[in-house]
Order: sequence, then structure tokens, then C-alpha cells
Amino acid sequence: MKILTLAGDGIGTEIMSQAVAVLNKVNDKFELGLTLDDALIGGCAIDEHGVPLPDETLAKARDADAVLLGAVGGYKWDTIERSIRPERGLLKIRSELGLFANLRVAKLYPQLAGASSIKPEIINGLDLLIVRELTGGIYFGEPRGIETLDNGDKHGYNTMTYTTPEIKRIGKVAFEMAQTRAKASGKKAKLCSVDKANVLEVTELWKQTITEMGEADYRDVELSHMYADNACMQLIKDPKQFDVMVTGNMFGDILSDEAGMLTGSIGMLPSASLDENGKGMYEPCHGSAPDIAGQDKANPLAMILSVAMMLRYTVKHEESAVAIEQAVSDVLDDGLRTGDILDKSEEGLSLVGCQAMGEAVLAKLA
Ligand SMILES: NC(=O)c1ccc[n+]([C@@H]2O[C@H](COP(=O)([O-])OP(=O)(O)OC[C@H]3O[C@@H](n4cnc5c(N)ncnc54)[C@H](O)[C@@H]3O)[C@@H](O)[C@H]2O)c1
Repeated sequence: MKILTLAGDGIGTEIMSQAVAVLNKVNDKFELGLTLDDALIGGCAIDEHGVPLPDETLAKARDADAVLLGAVGGYKWDTIERSIRPERGLLKIRSELGLFANLRVAKLYPQLAGASSIKPEIINGLDLLIVRELTGGIYFGEPRGIETLDNGDKHGYNTMTYTTPEIKRIGKVAFEMAQTRAKASGKKAKLCSVDKANVLEVTELWKQTITEMGEADYRDVELSHMYADNACMQLIKDPKQFDVMVTGNMFGDILSDEAGMLTGSIGMLPSASLDENGKGMYEPCHGSAPDIAGQDKANPLAMILSVAMMLRYTVKHEESAVAIEQAVSDVLDDGLRTGDILDKSEEGLSLVGCQAMGEAVLAKLA
């Protein structure tokens, strides 16, 4: 399989070198037969080619089986014309590759329970997956715009829209994820679909379609439904009631950030965006952190855990994914912490930089 790495800007380059070292290690150790290539995206691509997603990068991404992405953006490009900003490259690559399913895991490493703002007994053992529809819904629906009315007032409007094929393809991903996770954990498969069917017709269709899919093809999955506002509350009150959640683009945007922060640090959160054939782009949830870029302060673990997600979902090699996750857990057990996950009130911890953290993970994989 071919893997394309796009380090991007800011801390993207620092965390990517650690992730590539880890990937090379497991590639050799488990004889995965992966070949790696790299290309430019974001601000560095603007500097070199004038656009955030050069044709050459897109062609390589299309040709690859999976893409690993660091992060894009930085102060240098904050004031250039909006249509060619680094983030545009990201939106374009997602839509050009048809990456409609966004997967975000919110897993609490018990060693980091102190970093969360939620009481330990509520979050200990937390491991949930949010499946968010990424290329439809209100973020893309037409018509949209801001118009001036006859009386001079302004009118802003967007359209929330989903067709049954769009709902079915994301539903399929979510049901299958619930089944896969149940197989790995030995627990019952559970899926909670989040909507606002009490007020929005589009999500009434969502709920109906997901219900029909459950009854027709996924009777082994315990399906429940929840309104988005209640889901926000329940995620704080009792997040362990969830295993897999599936929802549309806007609700997923909000819920996945909320779920991520249950774990206390953005530097620990990997994500995947998949197309219909399981090809995916894997990236940390955080951005390019220009405030700490170039200082060896970035936490590389979200990037390294994104490699594990790639091995699980695209390469379909569970053993190597688990080995990486275990190595991450082991370095946390050893008390190693980058600044973002350092709890200063806890004794016995060592502050380390990005490189030392990456090397420690690598050493655990030896
Ligand atoms: N996927 C992406 O590439 C992506 C996502 C979000 C933001 N961005 C871009 O990144 C730039 C900065 O955005 P922002 O500041 O809003 O978000 P950010 O995620 O880059 O940073 C937010 C805060 O978290 C810290 N942080 C983030 N990742 C960290 C890590 N791995 N280790 C330690 N600390 C970490 C940063 O130092 C900062 O204080 C902007 O140009 C933005 O457009 C890119």
C-alpha cells in the first residue's frame, strides 16, 4: 500500500517526523509492505507553488491508499486572500478525495485523568467514537448567503439538507464501526444516532433512515436516538453510556469537540476521514500551533495515534495499531509528558519535548 505524508506547516513538520519514524518502525517490524512518499500542502505549498493544494499533491493523494496529514496554517499566511489560504487546501483535499466520514475517538488515557476538567469517576475508562458526516448538511447546503431586503434589513440564510443516499452511506460506516468495536471489546455493539427530529424535517428523515437500516441490516447493533441538545448534556453527565455516535455535519462538529475535550488535551486526539472504499486521510484534531512551532514543544502523540488509526482502518492491521497505542500508553506510564499534558500538581513526571516523546514511543516498539 502507498502512504502519502503531508506534514504541512508549524508543528506539522515536527510531529510528522516523529510519526514517520514510528510508521517506518512498525512497517519493518510487522512487514506491512507500506511505501511512503511526501508532498506539500498549506502555507509551505503557497510559498513554493502559489496555491495551498498543488496539482502534484492532489495527484499523489489520489494515487495513495492513505494520507497522513500534520497541520496547516500560520501567522505568515493569515492575511493573504481568503480563497488561497492554507486551510482552503485542507477543505479541497477532503472534498476532492470524497472523504465524507469523519471519525474522532475520544479515549481517556487513565494516566491523564487529571488533565480533564471532569471528575475522574465520570471519565475513567472513557472510549467513544463519533462518526460525523463531513461533506453535506448545512455547511454545504444551497441556497446560502446574505442578502439585503427591500426595507434595507439584511437576511442571512443557510440550508440544511440530506438525501437518503447521503444518510445511508454515513449510517453504514457507523453501524460497521459499532460492530468492529464490539468484536474487539467483546461488548455488545451500540450506536446512538443524534438528530433534532423534533424541529427539523431533514433530521426526521435522518432518524427514519437510520432506524430502517438498523431494522433491515444491523439487528445485532443496539440502536438509540437522541436529540442534539440532550446529547451535549449527556456527554458531560455520563459519557460512558456511549460507544459510537453518528450525526450530521454541524452537530458532529460541536459534539466531537466536546467529546475531545472530555479527555483534557487536544494534543492526544487523532482523527480519520474516510471515503466509500475505506481510503482515508488521518490527522491530529489540533492545528499547526504557531505559538509553539519550531521550539520542540509540540505533543506528537495525536499524530502518532493517527498512524495507529490508519493502520486499523485502511491498512486493516489491528496488531500494529494496538502496538502503537500500547507504546503511547507505556510512555505515559513512565511519566513522560509534553507541556500540554503536564499536570504540575502530580509528582514523578518529566517534561519532555516533541522529539524525546517520539523517540520514547519508538523505543517501546523495539
Ligand atoms: N487541521 C488543521 O490543519 C488545522 C486545524 C485547526 C486549525 N488550523 C490552523 O492552525 C493555526 C492555529 O490555529 P489555533 O491556534 O486555533 O489552533 P491550534 O490547534 O493550532 O492551537 C490551539 C492551542 O493548542 C496548542 N496545541 C495544539 N496542538 C498542540 C500539540 N500537538 N501539542 C501541544 N500544544 C498544542 C497550541 O499551542 C495552542 O495554544 C491556524 O492557522 C488555523 O487555521 C489547522
